[in-house]
Amino acid sequence: MNNKFALSTKQLLDIADDLRKKIETGLKTDGTEIKCLPTYIHPKKDGIEGEATVFDLGGTNFRAAVISVGKETKITGMAEKDITEMKTKGFTKEDLYKSQAEIIKKLKVPANSPIGYCFSYPAKSLTNGDAELIVWTKGVSIDGMAGKPIGKPLVEFLNTHIDWSFHKIAVVNDTITSLFAGLMNPGYDAYIGLIVGTGTNMASFFPSEYIPKLKQVEGWSGETPVNFESGNFNPPHLTVYDDEVDAQSDNKGFQRFEKAISGMYLGRVFRAAFPNDKLDENLDAASLSKMMNNPGDYKPEYVEVAFQIYERSAKLVAASLAGLVKNLSLAYPSVKKVQVLAEGSLFWSKVKTGNTAYVTIVDTTLKELLKEMGIEGTEVKLSQMENANLIGAAMSVLS
Ligand code: BGC
Repeated sequence: MNNKFALSTKQLLDIADDLRKKIETGLKTDGTEIKCLPTYIHPKKDGIEGEATVFDLGGTNFRAAVISVGKETKITGMAEKDITEMKTKGFTKEDLYKSQAEIIKKLKVPANSPIGYCFSYPAKSLTNGDAELIVWTKGVSIDGMAGKPIGKPLVEFLNTHIDWSFHKIAVVNDTITSLFAGLMNPGYDAYIGLIVGTGTNMASFFPSEYIPKLKQVEGWSGETPVNFESGNFNPPHLTVYDDEVDAQSDNKGFQRFEKAISGMYLGRVFRAAFPNDKLDENLDAASLSKMMNNPGDYKPEYVEVAFQIYERSAKLVAASLAGLVKNLSLAYPSVKKVQVLAEGSLFWSKVKTGNTAYVTIVDTTLKELLKEMGIEGTEVKLSQMENANLIGAAMSVLS
């Protein structure tokens, strides 16, 4: 059977190069395809001490936790809830704050503790630590929140509805929390935070001099954490099936890379590949895993295409990492060792087809691409850390 989702090395190199160029454009100008959103926090690698309350709003879950950071980093309390309801029509921002307060109330929060809020949607960081929502992604669309701060109204809501007083809040993207958590592994010349789960995105540090658009920000210098919002990349070599998924989505024309890669969309890509079959509307990434893990129960053609989509997702991630590593090697000419702290259930998944781990496809493809690009001397380590987002959120507000 031919592979409808095959990508040659040459095509992957085109994708890597296109992303590299678009990152450069985003570092110069606001509002471009790759947003390159600076975060105005200088994370401390060591010497951070204290207790923080952390919030984590991601794909479908809201978590709250109390974390103490010091010689030993410990999570001393945690509460969570599935809030898929935030994707339903008519769900308001007050509904969101109420749900969040309900979860936070379950915790013993230290008095006056600072809040680190891992917020997994595109947001423009403000110099006071808060951030303004740019646009919702991943099927969420709560009215009246875009263009406004995320942290301040939540703190105000909590302070009026619960008998606590919160003051300080740092709102950071999940790629930034992964990036910061990665700093706990010393010995690298450059760091990347990567998410491949419900959605996808990357972040990294750049020297401020390498980010022309930062000239407008007074009093800011040094290493700047940048959230690329790479899920919005519109790469070359997508297929007609991707066009179909996009056409049927609620944010047409946006998040094209995310729609080809991430868990939220892989089932839709599969359905688009079989337009004449009456497939279940709820068929999702988990259904594809089921096919690959129980091949005897499904049509051989389904099992094969499920794997083609899974494999392409990993190769696209590798191409985007290759593009970013190239940017980093231009920004830091002496870079030799790069760590990628990767989060997300898809990234760390395995399937029975060929006994394949997603991370292995990413690693093998990335090595091949770096070699073709003449930067094989740069070693890229793909790492994992438990609770990276929670720890990184605490580091953001305690730095
Ligand atoms: C959001 C990003 C986020 C990514 C992974 C995307 O849909 O736009 O801000 O980092 O999902 O959670």
